[in-house]
Amino acid sequence: MKDDNSMKDELDELAENVTLIMEGEDAKIYSEEVIVEFRDPSNIGRMADADGQGVADGLCKDTMEMYVKVRDGVITECTFFTDGCGATIACGSRLTRFVKELRTEDAMQVRPQDLVSMLNGLPPDHEHCAALAIIALRNALRNCEARRSAGALEVRR
Ligand code: FES
Repeated sequence: MKDDNSMKDELDELAENVTLIMEGEDAKIYSEEVIVEFRDPSNIGRMADADGQGVADGLCKDTMEMYVKVRDGVITECTFFTDGCGATIACGSRLTRFVKELRTEDAMQVRPQDLVSMLNGLPPDHEHCAALAIIALRNALRNCEARRSAGALEVRR
């Protein structure tokens, strides 16, 4: 488990990467929606008291982590953490905002192409970043369900 300082370093590094992307040539190939999301990402960071957490590893070697809190079958909080590219940060930010207040069964139905549409497109070589976010979210929801079924979580109302 990483301590707060190393997590802060990771977050600083992430913010620095975002700034570099914004100032670089990459800014020309992303939609305005993607740029807005990765310039000021929402819900970023690991959640210590999550009901469920999930990870997805990309072939690109990047990783996405998702964390959820669920009450009465509704996602009340969702956060993400990634060591991936700017598109992945945009995907994590947009997806966590979208699924908040959604029923878990509806969140499970969100597809990578839905997320790409919400972001008004991604460059073809970054469409897999959306899949990474969706897989991590589904894994977090499955983990939450498994923990609840095993009695590891109290029923929260
Ligand atoms: Fe690896 Fe975006 S997640 S390039």
